[in-house]
Amino acid sequence: MRLELLYFFFYSMTVYILETNGWPQQGKHELRWNHSYTGINKPSNPIDKEVLEEFYHSTAGPAWLNNAHWLSGDPCESKWYGVGCNPSGDVVELDLSNNLLAGELPDRLSNMKNLEVLILRHNAISGTISPLLFTMKALRVIDLSYNKLSGSFPPQIELPFLTNLSLSNNQLEGYLPNHWNCLNLEVISISSNMLQGVLPNGLSTLSSLKYFDVSENFFIGPFPKEYSSLTSLETMWLFTNRFNNSIIPESWNKLVKMKNFQADSLAGNLPELIGVNWSDLEVLIVVDGHLTGDIPESFCHLKKLKYLHLFRNSLSGPLPKCFCDLPTSSLVSINLSYNQITGTVPDCFDNFRDLRYFYMENNNLTGTLPRSLSACKHLYTIDVSNNYLVGSIPSLYANLKDTLNWFELDNNRLNEIEDGLEDFIVTLSTKFCSLYGNPWSCPLPNYFSGKEYCTARCSSCNTLEQHSSCEKCLTSTSNCGWCADGRNCLEGYTNGPYYPYHCDQSEWVFGNKTNC
Ligand SMILES: *[C@@H]1O[C@H](CO)[C@@H](O)[C@H](O)[C@H]1NC(C)=O
Ligand SMILES: *[C@@H]1O[C@H](CO)[C@@H](O)[C@H](O)[C@H]1NC(C)=O
Ligand SMILES: *[C@@H]1O[C@H](CO)[C@@H](O)[C@H](O)[C@H]1NC(C)=O
Ligand SMILES: *[C@@H]1O[C@H](CO)[C@@H](O)[C@H](O)[C@H]1NC(C)=O
Ligand SMILES: *[C@@H]1O[C@H](CO)[C@@H](O)[C@H](O)[C@H]1NC(C)=O
Ligand SMILES: *[C@@H]1O[C@H](CO)[C@@H](O)[C@H](O)[C@H]1NC(C)=O
Ligand SMILES: *[C@@H]1O[C@H](CO)[C@@H](O)[C@H](O)[C@H]1NC(C)=O
Repeated sequence: MRLELLYFFFYSMTVYILETNGWPQQGKHELRWNHSYTGINKPSNPIDKEVLEEFYHSTAGPAWLNNAHWLSGDPCESKWYGVGCNPSGDVVELDLSNNLLAGELPDRLSNMKNLEVLILRHNAISGTISPLLFTMKALRVIDLSYNKLSGSFPPQIELPFLTNLSLSNNQLEGYLPNHWNCLNLEVISISSNMLQGVLPNGLSTLSSLKYFDVSENFFIGPFPKEYSSLTSLETMWLFTNRFNNSIIPESWNKLVKMKNFQADSLAGNLPELIGVNWSDLEVLIVVDGHLTGDIPESFCHLKKLKYLHLFRNSLSGPLPKCFCDLPTSSLVSINLSYNQITGTVPDCFDNFRDLRYFYMENNNLTGTLPRSLSACKHLYTIDVSNNYLVGSIPSLYANLKDTLNWFELDNNRLNEIEDGLEDFIVTLSTKFCSLYGNPWSCPLPNYFSGKEYCTARCSSCNTLEQHSSCEKCLTSTSNCGWCADGRNCLEGYTNGPYYPYHCDQSEWVFGNKTNC
């Protein structure tokens, strides 16, 4: 007696697999194909069987990691590894990912007229991608990513059932087709190839498209304003191409489902539309470009934001005034480093209890270190080096002892280390800690002696009392005669203070009362 064949397919979307370093694991949505069969009834369609046999030989079948049951008996009845059949004995699925396939795909593969799912990711399949692949009308999933396929796309793709086209990490060249008849297509993943040209307007017909990753190719700008019709789009990755100084078209304000946008080399101001219309945004990574102006107030509407990375641009102005009005936010990571952000850091981090990464280095921040960072129970990184921060390391930071792994304060104007931080500093000195280039007051707590990391030097004349008067600094001891801002005294000799302070050395005046 034969069991009825049942086959199910399950998609399970797991959003962002977080690595310990907090990047969304190159941010990929992992869309898993889950298949299981129970029972088989009919022998397979003879053409499918022949094609599978040829496939086995041309892709180094004997050397596969798993080739269980292949070539013995019937593909469906004998359950050849990775082969799935429907109740009529048609092969509908071939999933041999991570299985050491090598060699080339036979052209006859396209004779498997009922094949719906072709997943061969993470193998070493080479040769050019055959245009015949795009004639297999039943296909719902093509995932050949992480192989060595070369060649280019046909000028036109008509696969009405296709939902997922994944060809990332191959060696494809040429242009993207401009004619697409794929109304069900949800995923285009073609990153890490050698594709070129502009992004074709023809893609704007793909009204089901949710995921569009063209990163790491040679595409050029401008971005098509026609993509405003891709209203299902949730993920768009454009980085590492040749979009030199492109700008986000205003019409993209219609992409209201956007959750994850990543690009580089953008120019202009940060568009208001991001804060105003992309209200589901979770990941905004727009880095290594020429963005200017300030971060718009509208960004405070992004209630679901987890990652805000705008590093290495030319943003200026203070953080938006409404920063503290962000609701108990989901923020995990802020990286605004290497800009020219001015003003103080708002002291409202008790709003951001999930914050793990706080990168603000190389900006023009003034004011003090926010005490409320101590409320972030998962905080892993504080990097505010190369700013103009003054004041002390708050004793409350002792609360961060167990989670913080990176504490970088160098080249600011910090002068005091509050009591109660011994355990904190001692623990951090085995991780990463950098305090140099600050005018610390003497005496430093004794736990600073003999450390390789987390070193701090103080000036013998740089007591709190003397900060208020450079005059006292200059007269108290020899070789302590550097001062600035009427405030801090620095240890050093006639050629300058000991460490490369962030400010220009001309700002610090040596040993002469009249200059203070
Ligand atoms: C489909 O697309 C996603 C991208 O969202 C990819 O990660 C996934 O592995 C693809 N393949 C399958 C078989 O789902
Ligand atoms: C696949 O589906 C089966 C049956 O529902 C389930 O038991 C299994 O956990 C699923 N596997 C994955 C990786 O989702
Ligand atoms: C874009 O920038 C790259 C790298 O800086 C450069 O090689 C290329 O010529 C530029 N292309 C255009 C169209 O400006
Ligand atoms: C963008 O948001 C503004 C303010 O909510 C709204 O008036 C406008 O209609 C939105 N635009 C689109 C295209 O949804
Ligand atoms: C933050 O930005 C700096 C560059 O300014 C970069 O080196 C670092 O990797 C970034 N960190 C994260 C977690 O994005
Ligand atoms: C930030 O500081 C740098 C270095 O001192 C200076 O050149 C730049 O003009 C400052 N930018 C702003 C916006 O204050
Ligand atoms: C101190 O100031 C006086 C008067 O301005 C000047 O003559 C002298 O050269 C200065 N000394 C130093 C070391 O800068």
